[in-house]
Amino acid sequence: MKTYKIAVIPGDGTGPEVINEGKKVLDTAASKYDFKLNYTNFDFGGERYLKTGKILDDSEVNELRKFDSIYLGAIGHPDVKPGVLEKGILLKARFDLDQYINLRPVKLYPGVETPIKNKGLEDIDFVVVRENTGGIYTGIGGVSMKGTKDEVAMQIMSYTRNQVDRCLKFAFDYTQKERKPRPWKCLSNEDINKKLVGQLTLVHKTNVLTYCGDLWERAFNEMGQEFYPNIKRDYNHVDVSTMRFIKNPEWYDVIVTENMFGDIITDESAEIQGGLGIAAGGNINPEGVSMFEPMGGSAPKYTGQNVINPLAAIEAGKMMIKHLGEKEAANKIEEAVSALLERKIIKGLSVQEIKDSGSSTSKIGDWIADYVAK
Ligand code: IPM
Ligand code: MN
Repeated sequence: MKTYKIAVIPGDGTGPEVINEGKKVLDTAASKYDFKLNYTNFDFGGERYLKTGKILDDSEVNELRKFDSIYLGAIGHPDVKPGVLEKGILLKARFDLDQYINLRPVKLYPGVETPIKNKGLEDIDFVVVRENTGGIYTGIGGVSMKGTKDEVAMQIMSYTRNQVDRCLKFAFDYTQKERKPRPWKCLSNEDINKKLVGQLTLVHKTNVLTYCGDLWERAFNEMGQEFYPNIKRDYNHVDVSTMRFIKNPEWYDVIVTENMFGDIITDESAEIQGGLGIAAGGNINPEGVSMFEPMGGSAPKYTGQNVINPLAAIEAGKMMIKHLGEKEAANKIEEAVSALLERKIIKGLSVQEIKDSGSSTSKIGDWIADYVAK
């Protein structure tokens, strides 16, 4: 039987609770579709840091390299200064494991409310491919004359052609392989007659960032022209894209963008699909070990109350097994999430709605698992 080795980092706050439900659903899917997940737990996070001073060291990262995938709950502790764990654990794992893609599907499920007026399931269904290890996040820069009126601070956006190319290649391939068939509102009849199979939108700020933007734009057009003539290429400035997400989300199919812009627009996207209770993402190294996580934080004040919504963690688990090649099992989990939301068995995504409807973290996990088992 096919067995996958999974490193699990439940993390802080409600992370362990949602990861438990994720594992419950994944194990049910695994037994139904004849594969096995072997979990090994790692206690990285705020609790361990406060007890031992340890964040995440190189030998621990090397330990993670031995796994087929990493399943992460949430990192973040109210007693730890902001930035320490984010940089020391999350960003260190992304960088050291070269997880250069951040994949964020944005899909409105039936029964879920979007804050966007008059938009429905067919309108909100796009994917953001965020470059995940370059740009401002590399930390090139510095400060001098700190504390004086002449203090200078610099944080530089840098990209190599290779970093840009490998991200674009992933995005083009994804558009070609993973996005059909669907009712594309972004393709005209003329496009469809031309046998275009999807649209990839580059988001940047070429009118101001004339070095980095130009690099991305040239690389995008060259790669598209030469290797992906059946994909429609589109371009939006990042500021414009934030408006279009709200006014015309149906204009998007797949979006590719640099790291910082991607960080910002993926949070806006999460709101469009119903909020952090449902949004999941993958930190992907297509040639190495990837890491999947719910987008929400550790929500420490709800720890141990069994009221936090586990759907984002379940979605992250679904993305993980899909990435490992278990497509059928992943589709079944997606069907379950969709069906239970549509039938209003799961009546809402927020803590308040979960409390009001007498639901709970573990009940939602049970419902999804039961559906998957059937
Ligand atoms: C995200 C987060 C991280 C980021 C933080 C926690 C470092 O916001 O995954 O989007 O900026 O990438
Ligand atoms: Mn973010």
